[in-house]
Amino acid sequence: MIYLNGNYVALKNASISVMDRGFLFADGVYEVIPIYAGTIFRLDAHLARLNHSLDALDIINPLKKPEWLAIIEKLIQHQNEQDLSIYIQITRGCADTRKHIGQDNLTPTVLIKAKPLTLPTFEQLTKPHYAVSATDIRWSRCDIKSIALLANILLLKQAQQKNAEEVILIRDGMITEGASSNVFIVKNGVVYTRPADEYILGGITRDIVIQSVEALNIPLQQVCFIQKDLLNADEIWISSSTKEIMPISHLNTKPINGGVYGEIWYKVYQQFQVIKQTELSKKCKVFAKV
Ligand code: PDD
Repeated sequence: MIYLNGNYVALKNASISVMDRGFLFADGVYEVIPIYAGTIFRLDAHLARLNHSLDALDIINPLKKPEWLAIIEKLIQHQNEQDLSIYIQITRGCADTRKHIGQDNLTPTVLIKAKPLTLPTFEQLTKPHYAVSATDIRWSRCDIKSIALLANILLLKQAQQKNAEEVILIRDGMITEGASSNVFIVKNGVVYTRPADEYILGGITRDIVIQSVEALNIPLQQVCFIQKDLLNADEIWISSSTKEIMPISHLNTKPINGGVYGEIWYKVYQQFQVIKQTELSKKCKVFAKV
């Protein structure tokens, strides 16, 4: 069951118009919100980022926070699993003709869907994870969580052909982020990540990683760093709601930290779990269907 424009429908019966601007122009945004053990995680931060993306497109958020919450809770209750990811997509809506700019005040199309989320376990995270580097061929507003992901798809396809699961992107000689994650490096005990500017998506998981590093009193700098820093890093991590913090063992086939996870990653990973569990324990569980 999914939510589409005010109705709960079976996925196979859900349809939208071919005139939807999301279909014709990728004129829309999305969000991915993790549900851990039946509890919505950092809803406010995800809704704030959704508003940021919608504002950038000049689309008015069609729902208020209690409405988002009610829909998400209903979708959770219809799932058997307790770890889920909620996918939200909002497009500008349907116009009568295909015109780049035309009708104002269209009714946005809203899709909300839940799917089981399998987070990598500690054992899975500490297995080898390969990444490659590539030129960032995306546009200049990566802070908007746009549904236009063609560049990301092409980059990830190239990575897959090299047996890598993520591609770390370089723009003007500087590291931006991964095609589907944020990037951290460690050098001589200091953690570095690019500041959340318009060339990266400000990850919600990135915020928790930063919070974890700070809680451990490990020095952290939000600065731009260059490809050479990446290649010479003692540790490389990527972060996202679906991967949490993943250590990269090989970059362009070169082992990082001898191909094993680093000491700082291990500490930050543990602190990350503490922060997550503390937050979850304070929240009400939305009980899943049995
Ligand atoms: N993507 N940067 C990019 C380009 C991303 O696509 C993502 C996540 C992130 C990390 O954001 P967060 O920590 O809030 O998940 C950074 C999601 C998971 C996706 O597109 O499915």
